[in-house]
Amino acid sequence: MTSVVVHDEFVRLVDNGRHADFHLRWLRHNCDVDRHPATRERLIDSAELPDQLAVREAAVDDGVLRITWLHDNRTSRYPLAWLERHAYAVNREAVPRPPSDVRLLELDGARGPTAVARDVLANVSQHGAALVRREHPNPEAETEAWIDALDARGLRVVGTHFGRIEDLRTDNTTNANTDQLGYTDAAIGFHTDQPFLDEPPRYQLLQSIRVADRGGDSLLADGEAALRYLASLDVEAADLLRRTPVRFHRQQKQFEREVVSPIISLRDDRVHVRSSYFTVAPYQLPFDRMTAWYRAHDQFVRILRDPRHHFAFRLRAGDVLVYDNHRMLHGRTAFAGARWVRGVYFDRAASAAEHDFEISG
Ligand SMILES: [Fe+2]
Repeated sequence: MTSVVVHDEFVRLVDNGRHADFHLRWLRHNCDVDRHPATRERLIDSAELPDQLAVREAAVDDGVLRITWLHDNRTSRYPLAWLERHAYAVNREAVPRPPSDVRLLELDGARGPTAVARDVLANVSQHGAALVRREHPNPEAETEAWIDALDARGLRVVGTHFGRIEDLRTDNTTNANTDQLGYTDAAIGFHTDQPFLDEPPRYQLLQSIRVADRGGDSLLADGEAALRYLASLDVEAADLLRRTPVRFHRQQKQFEREVVSPIISLRDDRVHVRSSYFTVAPYQLPFDRMTAWYRAHDQFVRILRDPRHHFAFRLRAGDVLVYDNHRMLHGRTAFAGARWVRGVYFDRAASAAEHDFEISG
């Protein structure tokens, strides 16, 4: 018994544990209606098809796959025997979508920073982030305890041009160079921090001190999983992200820095993402590469922005988020009120190896 599963860009036929995938474009290009009734020759070129195709309905009956298309309501018929003969992606391994279930990241922080630090770093190593749910009457008094707990596990605080600890609030008086989006109440889309540095800090801790009256939800997306997912749909696009150097340029009143780097680089077998729509400089690419570059870049970001592909949650006062800034992209929704989040960057201590976290005492 053959069944059909519709995905965004393809349909999958499943039969007895075997499956075959067909792009929507390929199917519509091979629609039985677009054939001459006498000669059965194809009557159209794929170039005549709309750029975006979507399925209204798909079903298998009597050995035939029927697809009704959204844009013109036409029903196309594909005998399963014909599909079998022309299949080009049999038993293709499905790459999972980037994760979005916040429970993957959550930890109970009731025992305090020192007791939970080991689990925090294990989560960060496995999933890219840890979200510690912790109630505390006076969270700002506990920031140093979090720093000490992570320090004892092999992380070291990295100061930046903002200072040692950032107070992300609209009425900031404690930091330098606050002329940037983080210190406003504006929405901030997915990005990695400090991509304009040669060595962007590896980790960030965000500690919620005071919540907003409205909005201020946190967003987090796994860039490594998004890249894998993109590569499974469009390997050329994923290659372009690795091969195309772009310039990141941070210009503030008292600070300026720039770096030229691809958005994706591979370091020690791990993916390092640099992505920031507000610090990327105007692209300077050869004319004949610009269109392909935009297509690849925008595909990657659209995967991240799809709500099925990222974590969305609200930090409560006392909660702490720690994430890998080389792997994860983050953002927040706009807010109203006196929201206050503290941020601290970390790198690994020189002696801490990549997989030390889980095993160190
Ligand atoms: Fe940020």
